[in-house]
Amino acid sequence: MVSRVIPVDSFDLVIFGGTGDLARRKILPGLFRRYASGQMPDEGRIIGAARSDMTCDEFRTMVKEAVEEFDPKSAKDTENLSKFLDRVFYVAVDAKGDGGWKELGELLRPDMIRAFYFSVAPSLFGAIAERLKTFDLADDDSRIVVEKPFGKDLETARALNRSLAEHFLESQIYRIDHYLGKETVQNLMAVRFGNMLFEPLWNSQYVDHIQITVAETVGVGGRGGYYDTSGAMRDMVQNHLMQLLCLIAMEPPAKFDPDAVRDEKLKVIRALDPVEPHHIVRGQYAASDKTASYREDVENPRSFTESFVAMRCAISNWRWAGTPFYLRTGKRLKARTSEIAVVFKDAPHSIFGAEAGVHRNVLSIRLQPNEGMTLGVTIKEPGPGGMRLVDVPLDMSFAEALGPDAEEVPDAYERLIMDVIRGNQTLFMRGDEVEAAWAWTDPIINGWSNRNDVPKPYDTGSAGPDDALMLMHRDGRRWREIKE
Ligand code: BG6
Repeated sequence: MVSRVIPVDSFDLVIFGGTGDLARRKILPGLFRRYASGQMPDEGRIIGAARSDMTCDEFRTMVKEAVEEFDPKSAKDTENLSKFLDRVFYVAVDAKGDGGWKELGELLRPDMIRAFYFSVAPSLFGAIAERLKTFDLADDDSRIVVEKPFGKDLETARALNRSLAEHFLESQIYRIDHYLGKETVQNLMAVRFGNMLFEPLWNSQYVDHIQITVAETVGVGGRGGYYDTSGAMRDMVQNHLMQLLCLIAMEPPAKFDPDAVRDEKLKVIRALDPVEPHHIVRGQYAASDKTASYREDVENPRSFTESFVAMRCAISNWRWAGTPFYLRTGKRLKARTSEIAVVFKDAPHSIFGAEAGVHRNVLSIRLQPNEGMTLGVTIKEPGPGGMRLVDVPLDMSFAEALGPDAEEVPDAYERLIMDVIRGNQTLFMRGDEVEAAWAWTDPIINGWSNRNDVPKPYDTGSAGPDDALMLMHRDGRRWREIKE
Protein backbone atom coordinates (compact mmCIF):
# COMPACT_ATOMS: atom_id res chain seq x y z
CA MET A 1 0.00 0.00 0.00
CA VAL A 2 1.39 3.41 -0.91
CA SER A 3 0.92 6.05 1.75
CA ARG A 4 -0.58 9.30 0.53
CA VAL A 5 0.82 12.39 2.15
CA ILE A 6 -0.94 15.50 1.00
CA PRO A 7 1.12 18.58 1.81
CA VAL A 8 -0.66 21.33 3.69
CA ASP A 9 -0.47 24.99 2.70
CA SER A 10 2.40 27.13 3.95
CA PHE A 11 2.01 28.46 7.45
CA ASP A 12 3.51 30.27 10.40
CA LEU A 13 2.83 28.29 13.55
CA VAL A 14 3.57 30.10 16.79
CA ILE A 15 3.89 27.88 19.85
CA PHE A 16 3.37 29.80 23.08
CA GLY A 17 5.06 27.70 25.74
CA GLY A 18 7.46 26.55 23.01
CA THR A 19 10.09 25.54 25.58
CA GLY A 20 7.61 23.60 27.73
CA ASP A 21 7.18 19.90 28.31
CA LEU A 22 4.37 19.28 25.82
CA ALA A 23 6.19 21.17 23.07
CA ARG A 24 9.38 19.17 23.64
CA ARG A 25 7.71 15.81 24.05
CA LYS A 26 4.99 15.92 21.44
CA ILE A 27 4.52 19.04 19.35
CA LEU A 28 8.05 19.64 18.05
CA PRO A 29 8.99 15.99 17.36
CA GLY A 30 5.55 15.57 15.72
CA LEU A 31 6.12 18.57 13.46
CA PHE A 32 9.50 17.22 12.51
CA ARG A 33 7.94 13.91 11.45
CA ARG A 34 5.40 15.80 9.32
CA TYR A 35 8.27 17.72 7.75
CA ALA A 36 10.29 14.57 7.05
CA SER A 37 7.20 12.89 5.54
CA GLY A 38 6.79 15.79 3.11
CA GLN A 39 3.53 17.02 4.61
CA MET A 40 4.89 20.19 6.14
CA PRO A 41 5.99 22.35 3.21
CA ASP A 42 9.39 23.98 3.00
CA GLU A 43 7.66 27.32 3.38
CA GLY A 44 6.14 26.30 6.72
CA ARG A 45 7.72 27.89 9.79
CA ILE A 46 7.55 27.25 13.49
CA ILE A 47 8.09 30.05 15.93
CA GLY A 48 8.68 29.20 19.56
CA ALA A 49 7.47 31.89 21.94
CA ALA A 50 8.11 31.78 25.67
CA ARG A 51 9.33 33.86 28.57
CA SER A 52 12.97 32.77 28.48
CA ASP A 53 15.44 35.00 26.79
CA MET A 54 17.08 32.81 24.20
CA THR A 55 18.37 33.18 20.69
CA CYS A 56 16.98 31.36 17.67
CA ASP A 57 20.11 29.20 17.64
CA GLU A 58 19.64 28.24 21.27
CA PHE A 59 16.01 27.34 20.60
CA ARG A 60 17.03 25.28 17.56
CA THR A 61 19.47 23.37 19.75
CA MET A 62 16.66 22.74 22.23
CA VAL A 63 14.36 21.51 19.44
CA LYS A 64 17.09 19.22 18.08
CA GLU A 65 17.68 17.76 21.54
CA ALA A 66 13.93 17.32 22.06
CA VAL A 67 13.59 15.36 18.79
CA GLU A 68 16.64 13.26 19.68
CA GLU A 69 15.29 12.53 23.14
CA PHE A 70 11.65 11.86 22.34
CA ASP A 71 11.91 10.37 18.87
CA PRO A 72 15.44 9.00 18.49
CA LYS A 73 14.40 6.91 15.48
CA SER A 74 13.25 9.88 13.40
CA ALA A 75 16.18 11.99 14.63
CA LYS A 76 18.52 9.68 12.68
CA ASP A 77 17.36 11.44 9.53
CA THR A 78 19.93 14.16 10.18
CA GLU A 79 19.63 15.73 6.72
CA ASN A 80 15.93 16.45 7.15
CA LEU A 81 16.40 17.40 10.79
CA SER A 82 18.87 20.09 9.86
CA LYS A 83 16.54 21.43 7.11
CA PHE A 84 13.66 21.37 9.59
CA LEU A 85 15.67 23.35 12.13
CA ASP A 86 16.14 26.06 9.51
CA ARG A 87 12.35 26.45 9.61
CA VAL A 88 12.39 27.05 13.39
CA PHE A 89 12.55 30.50 15.01
CA TYR A 90 12.21 31.95 18.48
CA VAL A 91 11.02 35.11 20.11
CA ALA A 92 10.83 35.92 23.84
CA VAL A 93 7.31 37.10 24.66
CA ASP A 94 5.74 38.32 27.86
CA ALA A 95 2.24 36.82 27.80
CA LYS A 96 0.89 39.31 30.33
CA GLY A 97 2.89 42.36 29.28
CA ASP A 98 3.91 44.15 26.12
CA GLY A 99 7.38 42.71 25.65
CA GLY A 100 8.14 40.75 22.52
CA TRP A 101 4.82 41.13 20.70
CA LYS A 102 6.11 43.68 18.22
CA GLU A 103 9.09 41.45 17.44
CA LEU A 104 6.74 38.51 16.98
CA GLY A 105 4.69 40.59 14.54
CA GLU A 106 7.82 41.35 12.54
CA LEU A 107 8.62 37.66 12.22
CA LEU A 108 5.18 36.72 10.89
CA ARG A 109 4.76 36.79 7.11
CA PRO A 110 1.74 38.21 5.30
CA ASP A 111 -0.42 35.87 3.19
CA MET A 112 0.41 32.78 5.22
CA ILE A 113 -1.91 30.73 7.34
CA ARG A 114 -1.30 31.78 10.92
CA ALA A 115 -1.84 29.40 13.79
CA PHE A 116 -1.15 30.10 17.44
CA TYR A 117 -0.76 27.12 19.74
CA PHE A 118 -1.45 27.99 23.40
CA SER A 119 0.70 25.36 25.10
CA VAL A 120 0.51 27.32 28.35
CA ALA A 121 -1.54 27.39 31.56
CA PRO A 122 -5.22 28.19 30.87
CA SER A 123 -4.89 31.27 33.07
CA LEU A 124 -2.88 32.80 30.20
CA PHE A 125 -5.36 31.99 27.40
CA GLY A 126 -7.29 35.25 27.73
CA ALA A 127 -4.18 37.44 27.98
CA ILE A 128 -2.58 35.90 24.91
CA ALA A 129 -5.80 36.02 22.86
CA GLU A 130 -6.17 39.68 23.73
CA ARG A 131 -2.60 40.57 22.78
CA LEU A 132 -2.84 38.74 19.47
CA LYS A 133 -5.61 41.17 18.59
CA THR A 134 -4.15 44.29 20.20
CA PHE A 135 -0.87 43.85 18.35
CA ASP A 136 -2.74 43.00 15.19
CA LEU A 137 -1.12 39.59 14.79
CA ALA A 138 -4.27 37.62 14.09
CA ASP A 139 -6.92 38.13 11.43
CA ASP A 140 -10.22 36.37 10.72
CA ASP A 141 -8.46 33.44 9.10
CA SER A 142 -5.97 32.86 11.94
CA ARG A 143 -6.42 29.84 14.19
CA ILE A 144 -5.76 29.33 17.85
CA VAL A 145 -5.15 25.96 19.43
CA VAL A 146 -5.84 25.36 23.10
CA GLU A 147 -5.03 22.40 25.28
CA LYS A 148 -6.74 20.75 28.15
CA PRO A 149 -7.39 21.27 31.01
CA PHE A 150 -10.13 23.40 29.50
CA GLY A 151 -11.50 24.61 32.81
CA LYS A 152 -11.93 22.63 35.99
CA ASP A 153 -15.71 22.85 36.06
CA LEU A 154 -18.56 24.35 34.08
CA GLU A 155 -18.08 27.83 35.44
CA THR A 156 -14.36 28.06 34.63
CA ALA A 157 -14.89 26.46 31.20
CA ARG A 158 -17.55 29.05 30.43
CA ALA A 159 -15.24 31.83 31.53
CA LEU A 160 -12.48 30.48 29.27
CA ASN A 161 -14.86 30.16 26.34
CA ARG A 162 -16.01 33.72 26.90
CA SER A 163 -12.50 35.11 27.11
CA LEU A 164 -11.54 33.43 23.82
CA ALA A 165 -14.82 34.42 22.16
CA GLU A 166 -14.08 38.08 22.86
CA HIS A 167 -11.31 37.93 20.30
CA PHE A 168 -11.91 34.86 18.11
CA LEU A 169 -14.79 33.19 16.33
CA GLU A 170 -15.69 29.64 17.30
CA SER A 171 -14.55 28.57 13.82
CA GLN A 172 -11.05 29.79 14.68
CA ILE A 173 -10.75 27.95 18.01
CA TYR A 174 -9.27 24.44 18.00
CA ARG A 175 -9.68 22.73 21.40
CA ILE A 176 -7.42 19.69 21.40
CA ASP A 177 -8.40 16.37 22.88
CA HIS A 178 -5.52 14.25 21.70
CA TYR A 179 -7.65 11.09 21.91
CA LEU A 180 -9.56 12.33 18.88
CA GLY A 181 -6.30 12.35 16.93
CA LYS A 182 -5.60 8.69 17.61
CA GLU A 183 -5.82 6.54 14.52
CA THR A 184 -8.15 3.93 15.98
CA VAL A 185 -10.47 6.51 17.45
CA GLN A 186 -11.13 7.76 13.95
CA ASN A 187 -11.39 4.19 12.85
CA LEU A 188 -14.34 3.89 15.18
CA MET A 189 -16.26 6.17 12.87
CA ALA A 190 -14.98 4.35 9.78
CA VAL A 191 -16.05 1.00 11.23
CA ARG A 192 -19.46 2.21 12.28
CA PHE A 193 -20.39 4.30 9.30
CA GLY A 194 -18.38 2.67 6.54
CA ASN A 195 -19.78 -0.84 6.99
CA MET A 196 -23.28 -2.20 6.65
CA LEU A 197 -22.49 -4.96 9.09
CA PHE A 198 -22.49 -3.19 12.42
CA GLU A 199 -24.87 -0.26 12.34
CA PRO A 200 -28.12 -2.26 12.23
CA LEU A 201 -27.05 -4.03 15.44
CA TRP A 202 -25.71 -0.91 17.14
CA ASN A 203 -28.53 -0.31 19.62
CA SER A 204 -30.07 -1.55 22.84
CA GLN A 205 -32.00 -4.27 21.07
CA TYR A 206 -28.78 -6.14 20.24
CA VAL A 207 -26.12 -4.66 22.50
CA ASP A 208 -26.08 -5.86 26.09
CA HIS A 209 -23.55 -3.31 27.29
CA ILE A 210 -20.44 -1.39 26.30
CA GLN A 211 -17.18 -1.20 28.22
CA ILE A 212 -14.61 1.51 27.76
CA THR A 213 -11.28 1.00 29.50
CA VAL A 214 -8.30 3.32 29.44
CA ALA A 215 -5.73 1.74 31.72
CA GLU A 216 -2.25 3.07 32.39
CA THR A 217 0.68 1.54 34.21
CA VAL A 218 2.35 4.87 34.96
CA GLY A 219 1.71 6.84 38.12
CA VAL A 220 1.23 10.58 38.20
CA GLY A 221 4.96 11.08 37.58
CA GLY A 222 6.21 14.61 37.93
CA ARG A 223 2.71 16.08 37.42
CA GLY A 224 1.56 15.60 41.00
CA GLY A 225 0.84 19.29 41.57
CA TYR A 226 -1.58 19.48 38.66
CA TYR A 227 -3.01 15.99 39.05
CA ASP A 228 -3.87 16.30 42.72
CA THR A 229 -6.17 19.22 41.96
CA SER A 230 -7.66 17.32 39.05
CA GLY A 231 -8.00 13.56 39.58
CA ALA A 232 -9.00 10.93 37.05
CA MET A 233 -12.48 12.34 36.58
CA ARG A 234 -11.28 15.70 35.33
CA ASP A 235 -8.05 14.46 33.77
CA MET A 236 -9.47 11.57 31.74
CA VAL A 237 -13.22 11.01 32.02
CA GLN A 238 -14.53 14.52 31.31
CA ASN A 239 -12.59 14.61 28.05
CA HIS A 240 -10.97 11.47 26.64
CA LEU A 241 -13.46 8.84 27.84
CA MET A 242 -16.37 11.13 27.14
CA GLN A 243 -15.19 11.58 23.57
CA LEU A 244 -14.89 7.82 23.09
CA LEU A 245 -18.37 7.36 24.52
CA CYS A 246 -19.73 9.97 22.11
CA LEU A 247 -18.18 8.36 19.06
CA ILE A 248 -19.52 4.95 20.05
CA ALA A 249 -23.00 6.16 20.91
CA MET A 250 -23.74 8.99 18.49
CA GLU A 251 -26.23 8.87 15.66
CA PRO A 252 -24.77 8.78 12.16
CA PRO A 253 -24.03 12.37 11.16
CA ALA A 254 -25.34 13.34 7.73
CA LYS A 255 -21.77 13.92 6.59
CA PHE A 256 -18.27 13.85 7.94
CA ASP A 257 -18.07 17.54 8.53
CA PRO A 258 -17.11 19.38 11.70
CA ASP A 259 -20.47 20.64 12.86
CA ALA A 260 -22.45 17.60 11.72
CA VAL A 261 -20.17 15.34 13.79
CA ARG A 262 -20.00 17.65 16.77
CA ASP A 263 -23.76 18.20 16.84
CA GLU A 264 -24.26 14.44 17.18
CA LYS A 265 -21.65 14.13 19.91
CA LEU A 266 -23.25 16.96 21.84
CA LYS A 267 -26.62 15.19 21.73
CA VAL A 268 -25.05 12.13 23.36
CA ILE A 269 -23.59 14.16 26.22
CA ARG A 270 -26.90 15.89 26.77
CA ALA A 271 -28.71 12.54 26.86
CA LEU A 272 -26.45 11.15 29.60
CA ASP A 273 -28.31 10.51 32.85
CA PRO A 274 -26.85 11.85 36.08
CA VAL A 275 -24.74 9.13 37.69
CA GLU A 276 -26.02 7.66 40.95
CA PRO A 277 -23.34 7.60 43.70
CA HIS A 278 -23.60 3.80 43.95
CA HIS A 279 -22.82 3.53 40.23
CA ILE A 280 -19.38 5.01 40.59
CA VAL A 281 -16.20 3.86 42.31
CA ARG A 282 -13.14 5.94 42.99
CA GLY A 283 -9.73 4.55 43.80
CA GLN A 284 -6.27 5.67 44.75
CA TYR A 285 -3.15 3.55 44.18
CA ALA A 286 -1.24 2.21 47.13
CA ALA A 287 2.53 1.73 47.31
CA SER A 288 4.16 -1.42 45.98
CA ASP A 289 7.64 -2.88 46.65
CA LYS A 290 9.04 -0.77 43.86
CA THR A 291 6.74 2.21 43.55
CA ALA A 292 5.44 4.95 45.80
CA SER A 293 1.79 5.41 46.73
CA TYR A 294 -0.34 8.08 45.11
CA ARG A 295 -0.14 10.21 48.23
CA GLU A 296 3.66 9.96 48.26
CA ASP A 297 3.78 10.79 44.54
CA VAL A 298 1.74 13.95 44.98
CA GLU A 299 3.37 14.74 48.33
CA ASN A 300 0.01 15.16 49.99
CA PRO A 301 -0.49 12.63 52.82
CA ARG A 302 -4.17 13.58 53.17
CA SER A 303 -5.08 13.64 49.50
CA PHE A 304 -8.55 12.33 48.65
CA THR A 305 -8.04 12.73 44.91
CA GLU A 306 -8.82 9.68 42.77
CA SER A 307 -6.32 8.06 40.42
CA PHE A 308 -8.98 5.57 39.29
CA VAL A 309 -12.64 5.80 38.36
CA ALA A 310 -15.11 3.14 37.29
CA MET A 311 -18.69 4.03 36.55
CA ARG A 312 -21.91 2.86 35.05
CA CYS A 313 -23.53 5.40 32.73
CA ALA A 314 -26.85 5.44 30.98
CA ILE A 315 -27.88 7.29 27.86
CA SER A 316 -31.54 8.15 27.79
CA ASN A 317 -32.37 8.13 24.13
CA TRP A 318 -34.24 5.87 21.74
CA ARG A 319 -31.14 3.97 20.63
CA TRP A 320 -29.51 3.29 23.99
CA ALA A 321 -32.16 3.24 26.71
CA GLY A 322 -31.50 0.05 28.70
CA THR A 323 -27.90 -0.50 27.56
CA PRO A 324 -25.38 0.46 30.25
CA PHE A 325 -22.03 1.96 29.36
CA TYR A 326 -19.28 1.03 31.82
CA LEU A 327 -16.29 3.34 31.88
CA ARG A 328 -13.06 2.86 33.76
CA THR A 329 -9.68 4.49 33.79
CA GLY A 330 -6.79 4.58 36.18
CA LYS A 331 -3.10 4.86 36.76
CA ARG A 332 -0.72 2.16 38.02
CA LEU A 333 -2.97 -0.59 36.72
CA LYS A 334 -2.01 -4.00 35.45
CA ALA A 335 -1.25 -3.06 31.85
CA ARG A 336 -1.29 -0.10 29.51
CA THR A 337 -4.26 -0.70 27.35
CA SER A 338 -7.21 1.17 25.92
CA GLU A 339 -10.13 -0.77 24.62
CA ILE A 340 -13.75 -0.33 23.74
CA ALA A 341 -15.77 -3.52 23.91
CA VAL A 342 -19.24 -3.80 22.47
CA VAL A 343 -20.80 -6.83 24.13
CA PHE A 344 -23.77 -8.16 22.19
CA LYS A 345 -26.74 -9.92 23.73
CA ASP A 346 -27.16 -13.68 23.90
CA ALA A 347 -28.91 -15.37 21.00
CA PRO A 348 -32.61 -15.44 21.94
CA HIS A 349 -32.77 -19.22 21.91
CA SER A 350 -30.07 -21.88 21.87
CA ILE A 351 -30.93 -24.68 19.51
CA PHE A 352 -27.94 -26.56 20.96
CA GLY A 353 -29.42 -26.83 24.44
CA ALA A 354 -28.26 -25.57 27.80
CA GLU A 355 -25.11 -27.72 27.78
CA ALA A 356 -23.75 -25.64 24.87
CA GLY A 357 -23.30 -22.82 27.38
CA VAL A 358 -23.72 -19.08 26.95
CA HIS A 359 -21.84 -17.44 24.10
CA ARG A 360 -21.69 -13.82 23.26
CA ASN A 361 -20.27 -11.84 20.41
CA VAL A 362 -17.92 -9.15 21.53
CA LEU A 363 -16.49 -6.53 19.24
CA SER A 364 -13.33 -5.21 20.79
CA ILE A 365 -11.70 -2.11 19.42
CA ARG A 366 -8.15 -1.69 20.70
CA LEU A 367 -6.89 1.85 20.75
CA GLN A 368 -3.47 1.04 22.13
CA PRO A 369 -1.22 -0.84 22.06
CA ASN A 370 -1.60 -3.18 19.03
CA GLU A 371 -4.30 -1.08 17.42
CA GLY A 372 -6.88 -3.32 15.87
CA MET A 373 -10.24 -5.00 16.22
CA THR A 374 -11.36 -8.39 17.30
CA LEU A 375 -14.78 -9.86 16.78
CA GLY A 376 -15.49 -12.83 19.00
CA VAL A 377 -17.65 -15.38 17.16
CA THR A 378 -19.02 -18.70 18.28
CA ILE A 379 -18.22 -21.81 16.24
CA LYS A 380 -18.27 -25.54 16.63
CA GLU A 381 -15.27 -26.92 18.41
CA PRO A 382 -13.45 -28.97 15.78
CA GLY A 383 -13.40 -32.77 16.05
CA PRO A 384 -15.75 -35.47 17.15
CA GLY A 385 -17.86 -35.37 20.27
CA GLY A 386 -21.01 -33.67 19.08
CA MET A 387 -21.94 -30.04 18.90
CA ARG A 388 -19.62 -28.34 21.38
CA LEU A 389 -19.40 -24.60 20.95
CA VAL A 390 -16.36 -22.45 21.38
CA ASP A 391 -15.68 -18.72 21.03
CA VAL A 392 -12.88 -17.74 18.70
CA PRO A 393 -11.55 -14.31 17.77
CA LEU A 394 -11.71 -12.92 14.27
CA ASP A 395 -8.69 -10.82 14.89
CA MET A 396 -7.41 -7.95 12.85
CA SER A 397 -4.29 -6.16 13.89
CA PHE A 398 -4.04 -3.02 11.79
CA ALA A 399 -0.27 -3.35 11.66
CA GLU A 400 -0.54 -6.88 10.22
CA ALA A 401 -3.42 -6.12 7.88
CA LEU A 402 -2.11 -2.85 6.53
CA GLY A 403 1.62 -3.47 6.70
CA PRO A 404 4.25 -0.80 7.26
CA ASP A 405 1.77 2.02 6.52
CA ALA A 406 -0.11 1.19 9.71
CA GLU A 407 3.05 1.51 11.75
CA GLU A 408 3.80 4.89 10.31
CA VAL A 409 0.50 6.51 11.15
CA PRO A 410 1.03 9.98 12.54
CA ASP A 411 0.85 10.41 16.26
CA ALA A 412 -2.29 12.16 17.53
CA TYR A 413 -0.67 15.57 17.97
CA GLU A 414 0.94 15.78 14.57
CA ARG A 415 -2.26 14.75 12.85
CA LEU A 416 -4.27 17.33 14.77
CA ILE A 417 -1.81 20.14 14.08
CA MET A 418 -2.01 19.39 10.36
CA ASP A 419 -5.80 19.57 10.66
CA VAL A 420 -5.45 23.03 12.21
CA ILE A 421 -3.43 24.16 9.20
CA ARG A 422 -6.00 22.59 6.86
CA GLY A 423 -8.76 24.39 8.76
CA ASN A 424 -10.62 21.18 9.62
CA GLN A 425 -12.29 21.24 13.06
CA THR A 426 -13.92 17.79 12.91
CA LEU A 427 -11.55 16.27 15.45
CA PHE A 428 -11.63 19.22 17.86
CA MET A 429 -14.07 19.93 20.64
CA ARG A 430 -16.56 22.71 20.24
CA GLY A 431 -17.16 25.09 23.13
CA ASP A 432 -20.69 23.82 23.81
CA GLU A 433 -19.46 20.21 23.87
CA VAL A 434 -16.89 21.01 26.54
CA GLU A 435 -19.45 22.87 28.61
CA ALA A 436 -21.98 20.02 28.32
CA ALA A 437 -19.32 17.55 29.46
CA TRP A 438 -18.59 19.68 32.53
CA ALA A 439 -22.30 20.08 33.24
CA TRP A 440 -22.47 16.29 33.49
CA THR A 441 -19.28 15.78 35.54
CA ASP A 442 -19.71 18.69 37.97
CA PRO A 443 -22.49 17.10 40.09
CA ILE A 444 -20.44 13.90 40.39
CA ILE A 445 -17.35 15.75 41.59
CA ASN A 446 -19.36 18.06 43.85
CA GLY A 447 -21.16 15.04 45.34
CA TRP A 448 -17.80 13.53 46.33
CA SER A 449 -16.63 16.69 47.99
CA ASN A 450 -19.97 17.23 49.78
CA ARG A 451 -19.89 13.69 51.10
CA ASN A 452 -16.16 13.81 51.92
CA ASP A 453 -15.83 10.72 49.80
CA VAL A 454 -12.61 8.80 50.37
CA PRO A 455 -11.23 6.88 47.36
CA LYS A 456 -10.69 3.15 47.86
CA PRO A 457 -7.05 2.06 47.89
CA TYR A 458 -5.96 -0.40 45.20
CA ASP A 459 -2.79 -2.33 44.57
CA THR A 460 -0.36 -1.19 41.96
CA GLY A 461 -0.54 -3.66 39.07
CA SER A 462 -4.16 -4.61 39.82
CA ALA A 463 -7.39 -3.89 37.95
CA GLY A 464 -8.41 -1.23 40.47
CA PRO A 465 -10.34 -1.53 43.75
CA ASP A 466 -12.55 -4.57 44.35
CA ASP A 467 -15.58 -2.32 44.46
CA ALA A 468 -15.06 -1.68 40.75
CA LEU A 469 -15.46 -5.41 40.12
CA MET A 470 -18.58 -5.40 42.24
CA LEU A 471 -20.03 -2.60 40.17
CA MET A 472 -20.28 -5.05 37.29
CA HIS A 473 -20.93 -8.21 39.30
CA ARG A 474 -24.03 -6.65 40.79
CA ASP A 475 -25.38 -6.37 37.26
CA GLY A 476 -24.43 -9.96 36.44
CA ARG A 477 -21.60 -8.80 34.18
CA ARG A 478 -17.82 -8.83 34.21
CA TRP A 479 -15.10 -6.43 33.22
CA ARG A 480 -12.85 -7.63 30.48
CA GLU A 481 -9.36 -8.48 31.56
CA ILE A 482 -6.84 -5.64 31.50
CA LYS A 483 -4.01 -6.98 29.38
CA GLU A 484 -1.74 -5.79 26.63
C1 BG6 B 1 -3.50 13.05 29.25
C2 BG6 B 1 -3.65 12.98 30.75
O1 BG6 B 1 -4.48 13.90 28.71
O2 BG6 B 1 -3.64 11.75 28.70
C3 BG6 B 1 -2.60 12.02 31.32
O3 BG6 B 1 -3.47 14.26 31.31
C4 BG6 B 1 -2.67 10.68 30.65
O4 BG6 B 1 -2.76 11.89 32.73
C5 BG6 B 1 -2.64 10.83 29.13
O5 BG6 B 1 -1.56 9.92 31.08
C6 BG6 B 1 -2.91 9.50 28.44
O6 BG6 B 1 -2.68 9.67 27.06
P1 BG6 B 1 -2.22 8.44 26.16
O7 BG6 B 1 -2.20 8.99 24.78
O8 BG6 B 1 -0.87 8.03 26.66
O9 BG6 B 1 -3.23 7.37 26.35
